[in-house]
Amino acid sequence: MHLYAATFLWISCLLPSQVDLLNNGLARTPPMGWLAWERFRCDIDCKDDPDNCISEKLFRTMGDLLVKEGYKDVGYEYVNIDDCWLTHSRNAKNQLEADPTRFPSGIKNLSSYIHNLGLKLGIYEDFGTKTCAGYPGILFQMDTDAQTFADWGVDMLKLDGCNVPTELMPYGYPEMGRALNRTNRPIMYSCSWPAYLAGGPKLPDYQAIAQSCNLWRNYDDIQDSWDSLKGIIDFYGDDKGNFSMFAGPGAWNDPDMLIIGNYGLSYDQQRVQMAMWAIMASPLLMGNDLRHIAPESKAILQNKNVIAINQDPMGKMGKRVIKNNDIQVWTRPVMPTGSYAFTIVNYGVYGTPAKLNYKLSDMGISGSKSYLITEVFDGSKIGVHTTSDVVTYSVNPTGVFMGKAVPQ
Ligand code: GLA
Repeated sequence: MHLYAATFLWISCLLPSQVDLLNNGLARTPPMGWLAWERFRCDIDCKDDPDNCISEKLFRTMGDLLVKEGYKDVGYEYVNIDDCWLTHSRNAKNQLEADPTRFPSGIKNLSSYIHNLGLKLGIYEDFGTKTCAGYPGILFQMDTDAQTFADWGVDMLKLDGCNVPTELMPYGYPEMGRALNRTNRPIMYSCSWPAYLAGGPKLPDYQAIAQSCNLWRNYDDIQDSWDSLKGIIDFYGDDKGNFSMFAGPGAWNDPDMLIIGNYGLSYDQQRVQMAMWAIMASPLLMGNDLRHIAPESKAILQNKNVIAINQDPMGKMGKRVIKNNDIQVWTRPVMPTGSYAFTIVNYGVYGTPAKLNYKLSDMGISGSKSYLITEVFDGSKIGVHTTSDVVTYSVNPTGVFMGKAVPQ
């Protein structure tokens, strides 16, 4: 049957009353972990590149390092497979199978290994006929595949949106959420649904997305560069469709992986990404090589003060409140009650730190007469200030100042 005719038939079987929510109790704070794609891509050459190919060995190694190198202790928990783990066809029972040469023990064994480390395993699929890299997708097989993932002990699914018309997404993404629920295994659900609508004529229906998904990619893939990072920050700052308001416990906007520890960002630019992912309440999924990482990158990724802002239990996503040439300011309400985190980002390349004067009230911070301001990365005290005091902040070229203001 033609794809469109078949999907029409399938959609007409989905009753409009089936609006039960994902409601799986997961992702009360943004998920933290590691995801293969940005750094390891679709390297399937285990013969010539055995240490870097997409294989069970890679995921075991990264799981081991999350534990051994202290990442687990600060909250990184998920070890996530991305594209290119599958065989090119389903088995005789129509089930998905991992490539047997690269995953000789199978995904169920890999999940046991990861669970024994006290971690969780994530997997990747695509709502369409094929994944973005051309492996079998899940269209028309949702219950079978959800059950396969549950039987394997999978804890998270990233569902991509290649090779399927975007008009089907409002039906297909919620339906896969229901299929995951029907397995009775709690599986965190990451949807790429709005990313495929970005830049198009229609804004995504964020309310429906937030009801069906624990996290969702809104925008383009991150690449290993400052330009890519800036493009993402600007997209989230523009907040078209007001998607920031749909973030909260159980539901998060996902600006894609952390590229800290890779090739493309300077030290200051890596701090920008960490601070901005914290202010945006973004999932912290590292796309790097934990075997080869500079100590200063590791320190940024493991900074407990910044992670605490990211994981703030209120789960309010920050917003850009000032945009002025190269400078932008973002704020986010955090605990204790009445407090705020803020970031001042400098895109400028004028080779000396920018000295920037702001009152707390300029940054949208009000409600109390005075606040204790601290710098978040190192916890140093800036001072106690009223909302109308002018405070000078020094921000490095392509760098960030991250602050916290607590009512006194
Ligand atoms: C898309 C996604 C990426 C990655 C690749 C895999 O581009 O947005 O994050 O999953 O597919 O092919």
